[in-house]
Amino acid sequence: MIDIHNHMLPAVDDGAKNDIVALSMLKEAVKQGVQHLVLTPHLYEADIIKSTADWKAKVGIGSQAIFAMVTEHQLPLEISIAAEVRYQDTLPIILDELEVLIGGKYLLLEFSFHSVPNNLERIIYDITRRGIIPIIAHPERIKPWQRDYLELEQFINLGCPLQIDIGSFLGTLGPNSQKMANFLFERDAVHLVGSDSHNLESRPLYAKPGYDWLTEHYGHEYADLLLKDNPARILKGESVNVYPADLTPPRSSWGVKLLNMFKS
Ligand SMILES: [Fe+2]
Repeated sequence: MIDIHNHMLPAVDDGAKNDIVALSMLKEAVKQGVQHLVLTPHLYEADIIKSTADWKAKVGIGSQAIFAMVTEHQLPLEISIAAEVRYQDTLPIILDELEVLIGGKYLLLEFSFHSVPNNLERIIYDITRRGIIPIIAHPERIKPWQRDYLELEQFINLGCPLQIDIGSFLGTLGPNSQKMANFLFERDAVHLVGSDSHNLESRPLYAKPGYDWLTEHYGHEYADLLLKDNPARILKGESVNVYPADLTPPRSSWGVKLLNMFKS
């Protein structure tokens, strides 16, 4: 398996707080059958305002520590370093000055959990005209989209893959995320899943449970697509199929009853 979204880089964000925790997380990944980890620390506007040089230094130190652990403990893991970039006005600086892309082409882009910009289409256009494809990180956890699933159609129409957190469909991230994740699976609007693992306790890896859940509900080919094939394509900078999807919410049971009353 390939985990394309996690916070194992030590002492960079709210993920692994030190080398000891990072090493335990790496070992857990091996135990669960992950062969390739893309480490994606949060990158916020505050990091850029502080200084891109500081960010580079912090990520450089964390990366060196990770590569040393993999070598010293002979872990059968490939490691790539990218970032989970929070949408912000400083995005052009990030894209100009920092190495945040996956496979040289994909940007793991997250939005605030409580409010999203109105001009999403323009934002995506500005990114894609640089030859970069945004992967929308865990849309099922964003409150405004939990209230209006249809908002996500614009990303799909623009060819942006949607990445769902494994914890969402396993139910560890709350009922709203779980409900929306299930809806997106039913509408064939999920292109990738990631662990978004932050630690071993409250936000563990769940790669194997995630793969097993997908196999049980949708078959192993679909589990392979979301945890092996599409991430592998992304790592190589190849395209991922993002087909149009209908995200019109299901009618509520009251709506269906009312409709039936009028029909009879
Ligand atoms: Fe994350």
